[in-house]
Amino acid sequence: QELKLSLEQIEKGGYEHFMLKEIFEQPKSVHDTMRGRLLVDEGVIKMAGIWDHVEKFKNANRIIIIACGTSWHAGLIGEYLIEEYARIPVEVEYASEFRYRNPIITDKDVVIAISQSGETADTMAALKLAKEKGAFIYGICNVVDSSIARITDAGSYTHAGPEIGVASTKAFTAQLTILTLIAFKLGKHNGNLGNAEFMSLIAELDAIPKKIEEVLNTTHELTQNIAKDFVKATNFLYLGRGYNYPAALEGALKLKEISYIHAEGYPAAEMKHGPIALIDENMPIVIIAPRKGHYDKIVSNVQEIKARKGKIIAVVNKGDRQVSEMADYVIEIPETSECFSPIVASVPLQLLAYYIAVYRGANVDQPRNLAKSVTVE
Ligand code: G6P
Repeated sequence: QELKLSLEQIEKGGYEHFMLKEIFEQPKSVHDTMRGRLLVDEGVIKMAGIWDHVEKFKNANRIIIIACGTSWHAGLIGEYLIEEYARIPVEVEYASEFRYRNPIITDKDVVIAISQSGETADTMAALKLAKEKGAFIYGICNVVDSSIARITDAGSYTHAGPEIGVASTKAFTAQLTILTLIAFKLGKHNGNLGNAEFMSLIAELDAIPKKIEEVLNTTHELTQNIAKDFVKATNFLYLGRGYNYPAALEGALKLKEISYIHAEGYPAAEMKHGPIALIDENMPIVIIAPRKGHYDKIVSNVQEIKARKGKIIAVVNKGDRQVSEMADYVIEIPETSECFSPIVASVPLQLLAYYIAVYRGANVDQPRNLAKSVTVE
């Protein structure tokens, strides 16, 4: 028993939980995922899995992204990325819905499966179905040689390293990194992403690990302080627009998974079609509002929340004024192009969920009723 404990302690590398360790590993895991692929000086993205089948992607009628849980959220951001930069239509599906609804799939479709474990039963079954119908299937997995990695025609591994905490953190940001690389590579190849923009985007991507590191340093204590005020909360809303709408969904999922507080993510503009009815002085609302990406629209959403006395926790860029003035709590992150903001904004949301759960005494690494990899339907 004693030996087992100390081994686990060693594995946690001085952190109290695997989840916290994994949150802090993100500068490295994102960097490792780009290493050997993003060659900034040469102006090249090298991805053999994509390159060997680039005509399949180029001629695809559409790309269908299939996943579950956090990986599905990464898929939603992948849709924004691939549609914006490569101009290929993308649909994102829950594997469990896709497989049971007699989907229309042809050999002109490319299916991308996203799975940390590579073992999720629903994702696996959906892929088998797509394969039978002749689609080309591509995997984005973290676990090498996993079942999904083996069944796909090609793929790219996320190099996040083993993820032990049930709530996914570093695998998520690594998935976003791969999806970004794929979108830029395809866009460059099919001519939708011009060279100058490509060069400036990849230089910015290269700097993302540094920005994650900065966010970890500047928000670690702050998120603990904010968390203390919400230990007794019973509900949370998470709002964002554009690329940060899926980031809001993921922020809410993190909180509910590990703290057992009910949390809902919503596209900020949809708030008026329902969630606004819930807002009063007892409702904490996390709003992701970086400068680039519908900022003015978000400002008016925040005004609506403020008028109803909701408690606003705003994730904004450094030096922000308008949203910050209305917010009860301000979390600053460095400015990036909109497409990178979910990677950077997710980090303080992971920390916030983590500390709320810790202060509630929850079992952060192994939340009740949840499993790291769901190998049953
Ligand atoms: C479970 C895990 C989640 C994960 C989801 C999909 O629900 O608890 O963290 O996002 O499965 O898993 P996958 O391994 O396919 O990414």
